[in-house]
Amino acid sequence: MQELRGRTAVVIGGGQGIGRGIALALAREGMQVAVLDIERDAARRTAAELEALGAKSLGLRVDVTDAASLAEAEGAVTTALGPVHVLSNNAGVSAPQGPITEKSETDWSWVFSINLFGIVKSVQAFLPGMRAHGQGGHIVNTSSMAGLVAIADLQVGVYTASKYACNGYTEILRAELAPEDIGVSVLCPGLIDTNLAQTSARNRAAAFGGPMPEPAPMPEAMRATAMAPEDVGPIVVRGIRENRLHILTHPDASLALVRARFEAIEADARAQARAEASS
Ligand SMILES: NC(=O)c1ccc[n+]([C@@H]2O[C@H](COP(=O)([O-])OP(=O)(O)OC[C@H]3O[C@@H](n4cnc5c(N)ncnc54)[C@H](O)[C@@H]3O)[C@@H](O)[C@H]2O)c1
Repeated sequence: MQELRGRTAVVIGGGQGIGRGIALALAREGMQVAVLDIERDAARRTAAELEALGAKSLGLRVDVTDAASLAEAEGAVTTALGPVHVLSNNAGVSAPQGPITEKSETDWSWVFSINLFGIVKSVQAFLPGMRAHGQGGHIVNTSSMAGLVAIADLQVGVYTASKYACNGYTEILRAELAPEDIGVSVLCPGLIDTNLAQTSARNRAAAFGGPMPEPAPMPEAMRATAMAPEDVGPIVVRGIRENRLHILTHPDASLALVRARFEAIEADARAQARAEASS
């Protein structure tokens, strides 16, 4: 999608962090931007920042686990800002670190309800309107470098599985929507300086055990190596314009990890092909 100016974007999970960075960048391109988040005040704060930049905006509470909440938001956004052209599905949560074998069924349901099914439900809510206006559009689903490679030492196994699912979903969606001129990308950030662990803990719904005590902030030494969330926004804008399947914040690091993963797959495939040929 080349022409962003004057068109409408929706950023879900835009109250803070990466989503706020994406919303700021889209507003700077001249878009109207609706900011949706489970934290209503945070959504409104970002919307006020966008208004201060001169962009028409609104901030609404939405819960991506709830299809009715998404449908209501879709109606409100379309009425206030017009038909939607860009959809950023950026809401996400991370469960506390630990071995994957020790994670409960509730941990799995919670993380997947947002990181995978939240995106699926959001697409179900917003895609009909995008199709109906017939002017094309773009959907960006936020995954992670953890959606490209599985690193056991990080102890975020459930999160990793949910992001792999997000990548698979997004690749299929892209192929299906290409004939309709709706581009689809998966954003795979490396380490970004946000408070994801804290927002995840305080917003966990009652159905999944309710809010948890917020973990300590990211250690300073780690924070120093993280990218600023405001720097992710322009990368996403470029990815939309170039219609990239993968939008990477750390392309060199991603390349090394992905190459190692695919070399391992290739090695297994070759070994098995050799074994079959000689049996
Ligand atoms: N920070 C990183 O290093 C990093 C790296 C890779 C991927 N990501 C991904 O980036 C995305 C944004 O995370 P972030 O790091 O900016 O953290 P963040 O906590 O600042 O942003 C996540 C936002 O999602 C919102 N949210 C949570 N549950 C929701 C729900 N049910 N409905 C609607 N909104 C909900 C939160 O309130 C928050 O504003 C996530 O999908 C995360 O997995 C983050």
